[in-house]
Amino acid sequence: MAAAGNDAGHDVSTPADYRRLHAESIADPDRFWLAAAGAVDWATEPTVALDSSSAPFHHWFPDGSLNTSHNALDRHVDAGRGDQAALIYDSAMLGVRRTYTYTELRDEVAVFAGALAELGVGKGDRVLIYLPMIPEAVIAMLATARLGAIHSVVFGGFAPAELAARIRDARPSAVVTASGGLEPGRHVEYLPAVHEALMLADSPGIPVVSKAREGFQHDIAGYAGGEGHWVDWDEAVSRARAVPPVDMAATDPLYILYTSGTTGSPKGVVRDNGGHAVALTWTMQAVFGIGPGDVMLTASDVGWVVGHSYIVYGPLLAGATTVLYEGKPVGTPDAGAFGRLIEQHRVKALFTAPTALRAVRRVDPEAELIRSHDLSSLTTLFSAGERLDTGTSAWIGEVLGVPVVDNWWQTETGWPICANPRGLAELPLKPGSPSLPSPGYDVVILDHEGNPVPTGTEGSIALRLPLPPGTLTTLWGSDDRFRDSYLSAFEGYYTSGDSGYVDDDGYIFVMGRTDDVINVAGHRLSTGAIEQVLAQHPAVAECAVLGLQDPLKGQRASGYVVLKAGLTPDHDTLKAELVQLVRSSIGPVADFRSVVVVEALPKTRSGKILRKTMRQIAAGEKLVVPSTIEDASVLEALEPLLRPGAAQ
Ligand code: COA
Ligand code: AMP
Repeated sequence: MAAAGNDAGHDVSTPADYRRLHAESIADPDRFWLAAAGAVDWATEPTVALDSSSAPFHHWFPDGSLNTSHNALDRHVDAGRGDQAALIYDSAMLGVRRTYTYTELRDEVAVFAGALAELGVGKGDRVLIYLPMIPEAVIAMLATARLGAIHSVVFGGFAPAELAARIRDARPSAVVTASGGLEPGRHVEYLPAVHEALMLADSPGIPVVSKAREGFQHDIAGYAGGEGHWVDWDEAVSRARAVPPVDMAATDPLYILYTSGTTGSPKGVVRDNGGHAVALTWTMQAVFGIGPGDVMLTASDVGWVVGHSYIVYGPLLAGATTVLYEGKPVGTPDAGAFGRLIEQHRVKALFTAPTALRAVRRVDPEAELIRSHDLSSLTTLFSAGERLDTGTSAWIGEVLGVPVVDNWWQTETGWPICANPRGLAELPLKPGSPSLPSPGYDVVILDHEGNPVPTGTEGSIALRLPLPPGTLTTLWGSDDRFRDSYLSAFEGYYTSGDSGYVDDDGYIFVMGRTDDVINVAGHRLSTGAIEQVLAQHPAVAECAVLGLQDPLKGQRASGYVVLKAGLTPDHDTLKAELVQLVRSSIGPVADFRSVVVVEALPKTRSGKILRKTMRQIAAGEKLVVPSTIEDASVLEALEPLLRPGAAQ
């Protein structure tokens, strides 16, 4: 493909060309990323790409300034594409569809930014957004960015205590919410949850803006008394004036997105404005093959990184049309949902998680419902969030008749570490692999001592520093935790927490986490956080939580609890209480259902629970009794309860 014929501006048509491009991006990041920065509208053009003066912390475009909301909206209107669809809201839950043109979306964002400003929100302030999949979620994110404030979106499936933890850490100047979200068969009331979270966080005075939704109580007056300052979204907007985008340093934070780590307290991943805009804009053409006017459907949630990057920012930065889908892949009303969306909105690229595909396959193995729709607009299916098994990949590829492109990344990186760059060339796909490292990512497989392992050998997947633009710059309020969590295991590298190997063609195969993070239906959870909750129960002396394989959700959490001496509670009642405790403390998203009462947990002589050994048994691996074990008979007694197929 000639440079002129490639919308991403790269001369790539073979794997060798791509390898050369990738090598150039590593050897001369300044050149690569300054060229990519040309696709962004800057208030002050950057002259430098990489600033490593405070390594291992790296910053991108240190002398550039811009506004991300301007780049996502105003610039497209200014370029004469104001009448083009920016956002299509499609609610299978309500049977409602609404299209916002770029002009309409810009205007709504500018006015809501004015409403936030009236509440005192300004540059650098945090705005916590707890909203379901409604247009107001996108509007609130972009309005926050317009003011130069920092949003932190929290997924609606989290319970008040999780919301409170994020409020405590981010210390927002305002909370934006709605009266509720719609899950199949139930209404999820948000206002009591927000109220409870504010009380738990000892912050009842933070202003709350709430969007009233039909079918929900919206009794904000009930909360607005006392110290509470609750405002109705529509009223706030009716009083507000549109405000222009605020000029931001490229290195200023755009958002904080909390994600699960190995401990109970979530990590606030910080993303900047400039690097983010450059990297996402680059991926839209080069990885996803999506440009102005193309339609992208990312069936995730704005509360996750996939939603941030490829429901909201990526498509809008690229001047494309994004579909905001409020519904599930199955059951709303049926397993043909993705087919309907593709047909009705002429979707060019569909991006979803393997769990969603497995859910469709389970209820409609022949995919008759999807196939009953006109799928001719679709060119590619993208999958991320968890490992895509080869069976599901082959099945959905055959159903949709398009290439299935697995891509591997994390909340921390914000965009694919590995992908098959469909917008550059049709490089070979290998089932089971998310293909090749993206430009800027120097992927290395290391052994326990930090030495590179030979091709084909599994090890820790590490990324040689610096990370490319658009990746995390730090953890909110804690440079030390950033360093300890990611940069200290192997000097000069970012540790991904995933293990895997690279094959002879340089393709990466990601096998799973090396830590206590699990992935349930594409939702990232910490087993440590679930353990903390179980340990609160008065009958529990100690516990361990493992991620077990699950045919639908990839993994599911299973708890092993030891009772306090002398207590003999009814096991079924205890299990029900523990399941409810996790649901009310972490949220329904943990989908925690299985608890096993055990006599004891295997430990090292220094008293550490041997979780890794338990995980290996549960994964069906051969039992190797660690030399550090205190009492091998405990492990032997537990083994039958852990083996795959045991009734957990
Ligand atoms: N607000 C409140 N509750 C929520 C929620 C939200 N935004 N999202 C999920 N939940 C609840 C569900 O209602 C369910 O509650 P229940 O225990 O009362 O039934 C629970 O959390 C577990 O939800 P989920 O894991 O989504 O399972 P499910 O059985 O409802 O649906 C799938 C199964 C496969 C259809 C669904 O998991 C899915 O669409 N997965 C795709 C995941 C995805 O896109 N991940 C993003 C990463 S890219
Ligand atoms: P999250 O931060 O929620 O996006 O979760 C990131 C984690 O999900 C990664 O560290 C992986 O463990 C897993 N993951 C995401 N995408 C893939 C993929 N394509 N293949 C394998 N694992 C994946």
